Amino acid sequence: MTERDKIVIAIDGPAGSGKSTTARRVADYFGYVYVDTGAMYRAVTLHALKNGILPNDKRMDTFLESVSISLSRDEEGVQHTYVNNNDVSDLIRMPNISDNVSHYSSIASIRAKMVQLQRTLGEQGGIVMDGRDIGTVVFPDAELKIYLVASIDERVKRRVAELMTKGGKFFVDDIRRNINERDELDSARAHSPLRKADDAIEIDTSVMTIEEQTEKIIVLAENIISGRK
Ligand code: DC
Repeated sequence: MTERDKIVIAIDGPAGSGKSTTARRVADYFGYVYVDTGAMYRAVTLHALKNGILPNDKRMDTFLESVSISLSRDEEGVQHTYVNNNDVSDLIRMPNISDNVSHYSSIASIRAKMVQLQRTLGEQGGIVMDGRDIGTVVFPDAELKIYLVASIDERVKRRVAELMTKGGKFFVDDIRRNINERDELDSARAHSPLRKADDAIEIDTSVMTIEEQTEKIIVLAENIISGRK
């Protein structure tokens, strides 16, 4: 591997383990790009549902050729996700998408397309990417791999807090069921299941604040960066 000037930081873990907020803050600290890969799978799911394409649909390959996913950041540093240039950032957080995304993200052709895009975004380094398979499949040679976990109660609490800021109606029991279901589907699927890479550092965030978990990852990254100079 030719050494990148800037490192790749891969952050994986189950739903609600604190990946997105932590990853964004770590990226801000280093002036790196942040990529939320879950948003990409959510965007494909939204577009497929809108077009009546089921996960095992035989038209999937043709459908995928017509889908272009792109990302940008606004002045506040928030990632926006686009499908064919339409901003779908809010729509992809709706419960209907959370309920369906794990079925679509288990499909090999969808994964192949997303992984290719993710590798292009990160090939120069200087990136913090969060997801389920970043350390195992997308960037198996990432300089720093983190695997975040948290108790189910804490993860439900965080998802509820996130959804409350977005408005809309939901039931806490549905959130819990959805997280459990997604954990199961994401871990059991045949293609790139959710698992800790052998060389990933596991951090249990159940009783940590966002500041604490961010700081911990920054220190780990700084050690790697200073060791390369
Ligand atoms: O991070 P999230 O909860 O928004 O992700 C939504 C779903 O996308 C998640 O349940 C599994 C899938 N996903 C995946 O399979 N691989 C990734 N790298 C990121 C997300």
